[in-house]
Amino acid sequence: MAGSTTLPLIALLISLISLSSSFPSPQKSSTIGFQARLIHSNSPLSPLYNPTATPSDRIRAAVANSFSRHHSLESSKSRGASPDWVQAPVRPYSGVYVLSYYIGTPATETFAIVDTASDLIWLQCLPCVECYKQIDPIFDPTKSSSYRKIQCSEPECHAIPTTNCKTDKEDCLYGLVYQDTSSSQGVLSSETMIFGNTPSGNYTLLNIAFGCGHNNSETGDENNAPGVVGLNNQSLSLLSQVGMNHFSYCLVPLEEGNIDSPIKFGQAAEIIGDKTPILEGGEKHFYYLGLQGISVEDERLPIPAGTFNVTADGSGGFIVDSGTSYTLLNSNVHAMLIKEMVNNTNLPRVDDATELFELCYDCSSDEIELAASITFHFTGVDLVLSTMNKWTDNGDGLYCLAILPTTGLSILGLHQQQNINIGFDVEKNVVSFEPKDCTSVG
Ligand SMILES: *[C@@H]1O[C@H](CO)[C@@H](O)[C@H](O)[C@H]1NC(C)=O
Ligand SMILES: *[C@@H]1O[C@H](CO)[C@@H](O)[C@H](O)[C@H]1NC(C)=O
Ligand SMILES: *[C@@H]1O[C@H](CO)[C@@H](O)[C@H](O)[C@H]1NC(C)=O
Ligand SMILES: *[C@@H]1O[C@H](CO)[C@@H](O)[C@H](O)[C@H]1NC(C)=O
Ligand SMILES: *[C@@H]1O[C@H](CO)[C@@H](O)[C@H](O)[C@H]1NC(C)=O
Repeated sequence: MAGSTTLPLIALLISLISLSSSFPSPQKSSTIGFQARLIHSNSPLSPLYNPTATPSDRIRAAVANSFSRHHSLESSKSRGASPDWVQAPVRPYSGVYVLSYYIGTPATETFAIVDTASDLIWLQCLPCVECYKQIDPIFDPTKSSSYRKIQCSEPECHAIPTTNCKTDKEDCLYGLVYQDTSSSQGVLSSETMIFGNTPSGNYTLLNIAFGCGHNNSETGDENNAPGVVGLNNQSLSLLSQVGMNHFSYCLVPLEEGNIDSPIKFGQAAEIIGDKTPILEGGEKHFYYLGLQGISVEDERLPIPAGTFNVTADGSGGFIVDSGTSYTLLNSNVHAMLIKEMVNNTNLPRVDDATELFELCYDCSSDEIELAASITFHFTGVDLVLSTMNKWTDNGDGLYCLAILPTTGLSILGLHQQQNINIGFDVEKNVVSFEPKDCTSVG
């Protein structure tokens, strides 16, 4: 019968169309979307999982990560005039999320740190002048039929401050220097990448520009992520290259270590709930939000007006970030917050022997629910922090306020983003917050 052969053919065609469409052109189009998986670096599912680390090792590393991430975000230049531009790095790799994907033809699996504060996608490539330790084999472009080097004449090359280009026919070289002296240098290249590997399938992207890093250095000798996937709104970010204006993620609580968190792009993105504008950030391409105030219970902290204003030199403002473990708040505001929390919480306060956190209580999980509430007032959105978002075990069995003091730039960290579906719309320039049980997001 004709029908019995036509139907599977049509089904095959439809699946080819829906799964293999790609938008190598920079034309913005939001007609298609895809979904991928984020895995917490401390989850046993993560390639970065270190089974010998104790809970207190992990907390200590996540606190250290928050401070060093802050340092590098503050000192990063978006696009320097020098051959090596300083990007916002995400390391050390503790308490952050990795994204698994496939690269090349045939496809090989790899993973990257997701970074909402930078654009370039890069990974370590053979042959290595120098490469740092990673778990998976290093990507070998000579084994891939879809690999191509980008030349100086191509538009992608004009998006980076390369200085080697004397003629159009040369390879386009890139160089990244991170604040902690780690670096990646190599050739801007183009490859097929497959994102997804979820129940809704794979999504193949052709001709994605990325940095093929042949000379990479890292501080420390632990296994590190093979690379980074940038998710800001600059022209070489994954978002811009696939011509999508939306993405969203919902971070499953860290204690649910064996479940990954969905990240959705394009039409699949869930921009749901109250929205707050993304603010212009001068030369930095971070996701700046308007933080108008903070309340403890119903009492507004007496924060001086303008404390969280974005400054032209990038040393101020408030951002939502995928690479910082714990929220960092301007130290004056942090002191007000601690004072009001103490005043409004009737639980046994104790000193933190680990010296990582300032406000800790020795109490049960039921009792910590009774601690005072904290609300962040963004333009258009009130974000009430849940018990899980406020408190962390310090590794010593105490509940400690998981917010750290800083100067300059303030950051909404990943601990405070758990169980909130966060949507980014870079067309309307808004971020949405929707408190949600992220384990239930398909
Ligand atoms: C996605 O693609 C990879 C690489 O080709 C393959 O190994 C994997 O099984 C695919 N996953 C799904 C859900 O189709
Ligand atoms: C490799 O990178 C290091 C660190 O940036 C640099 O000192 C060295 O000159 C580079 N080597 C080559 C061959 O480019
Ligand atoms: C902060 O920004 C607001 C709105 O742009 C402005 O009116 C105010 O003067 C700024 N305050 C400071 C201290 O810079
Ligand atoms: C302490 O909290 C109470 C309400 O619980 C409030 O009335 C009082 O003003 C607060 N005191 C200080 C010093 O913040
Ligand atoms: C993203 O890029 C588009 C196009 O360049 C621009 O109109 C928009 O304002 C940008 N959004 C953000 C949040 O930077």
